[in-house]
Amino acid sequence: MIDLRSDTVTKPSTAMLEAMMQAKLGDDVFNEDPTVIELQDKLAQMFNMETGLFCPSGTMCNQIALKVHTVPLDEIICDRLSHIYYYETAGYAANAQCGIRLIDGDQGRITAQQVKENIQADFDWLPVSKLVVVENTCNKGGGVYYDLEELKKISQVCKENNLRLHLDGARFFNALVASGTSLEDYFGLFDSISICLSKGLGAPIGSVLLGSKSFIKRARKVRKAFGGGMRQVGILAAAGIYALENNIAKLKVDHEHAEILASCLSKQSYVQKVITPQTNIVIFDLIPELEVVRFIDYLASKNIKAIQFGPKTIRMVCHLDINREQIIKVCESLDSFSI
Ligand SMILES: Cc1ncc(COP(=O)(O)O)c(C=O)c1O
Repeated sequence: MIDLRSDTVTKPSTAMLEAMMQAKLGDDVFNEDPTVIELQDKLAQMFNMETGLFCPSGTMCNQIALKVHTVPLDEIICDRLSHIYYYETAGYAANAQCGIRLIDGDQGRITAQQVKENIQADFDWLPVSKLVVVENTCNKGGGVYYDLEELKKISQVCKENNLRLHLDGARFFNALVASGTSLEDYFGLFDSISICLSKGLGAPIGSVLLGSKSFIKRARKVRKAFGGGMRQVGILAAAGIYALENNIAKLKVDHEHAEILASCLSKQSYVQKVITPQTNIVIFDLIPELEVVRFIDYLASKNIKAIQFGPKTIRMVCHLDINREQIIKVCESLDSFSI
């Protein structure tokens, strides 16, 4: 099966499993798991943040960040396509008890000017603008990355207006590799960062939330309250360390594969539009006459899995467990489909 539904479907390689087997373990609720501490410190150092917190999922990292940065009746500013708005089951309302101010950005990317224009005035009847969330790369926008200069401007606007800035960096390393920027370029821009190890980097589970010591101290409590305090979890953190040490450079291959798929799709008469991929995600629309289900079923008959992403929209995501031969096979299947 060629599974292009998501980059979360990867299975740990033998070498990663070996690293997991060798992990030194302790009880992480007591903050005594040496491998978890190593992973948290490693990422904190990479991103020049004070410290980190290992969490089971990117969603939990984001939800903790929303809750720690805000108090009830505050408002969060983000793009309309953001994961925190679209795919976290309105957790911002349930967990942080905040409102959300949605911006119509460019494929999921907002600008500093838009942030400025969406800060609430100081009236009793308005929520308090407290937190801005940027997603880099933006999943629903087609995996596009932010222009570094715009991020710097957004960060500046946040600092000038007493707003916190959280980066949903579930696929930050894809952005880094594709944009040719370096980690140092992002130092000092964000109050908190969420990094997923279980997407393009190929770990089976795990995300790390980064921030100041005081932020993470509070985040530890919130994680516990969410049921996310884990015990001998170094076995999973070891997979994360392995992923950081071995799989970042490989993301480039996924980006090349996405380009090949997009170029093949754009030649097909049954495809209306393809978003030009910048990283590993390919999003495309079918022509109105073609039912998405019929096309997905056709792909399934060729042992290919893709995911419906809208009424006429499909997403394919390239990842570590997809090789060039499989991409060529997908292209052959796309070429032989007729409506
Ligand atoms: C941009 C973004 N943020 C956060 C998440 C949440 O990650 P998880 O599935 O680990 O909860 C995802 C998942 O796909 C994502 O695409």
